[in-house]
Amino acid sequence: MISEKLFNELNEQVNFEFYSAHIYLAMASYCSSIDYDGAANFFTVQAEEERFHGMKLYNYMNETDGIVTLKAIPEPNNKYDGLIQVFKKALEHEKLVTSRIYNLMDIATEEKEHATISMLKWYLDEQVEEEATLKKLIKRLERLDGDGHGLFMVDEELAARVYTPPTNA
Ligand SMILES: [Fe+2]
Repeated sequence: MISEKLFNELNEQVNFEFYSAHIYLAMASYCSSIDYDGAANFFTVQAEEERFHGMKLYNYMNETDGIVTLKAIPEPNNKYDGLIQVFKKALEHEKLVTSRIYNLMDIATEEKEHATISMLKWYLDEQVEEEATLKKLIKRLERLDGDGHGLFMVDEELAARVYTPPTNA
């Protein structure tokens, strides 16, 4: 039986995942506005992933017979200072998500809530991957130092990203 404290924290995280989807969708629109359609696609796919993260947690909570409380989603920022800044902000956001998952894991561990610990492990692995992808992209973009042809190539690559629901979830 999940404690009320843990349940409430998981509930906050469901809402935070949907908020993350909103943030990335706003980033996608910004990228599109500065003609980086590949990057826009990258963030649209990212938004889909966040929605999946939210739904996975939502389903888990429903299985415990609790009721998920969906809350109003705050308005995300849609003003950025260029492509690299968007990716840096995305990385910053993912680091925040990681710290939140760590916190959830701490509570679940404290309460010896093994089923929740096992479920959260998937999120931890996911976070390592998300942060690594963004870090790598930022490095590549910085190395290009504004080179138009290089940026075009990276954007083409980002255009190829497609959303595939994880099979290990
Ligand atoms: Fe997420």
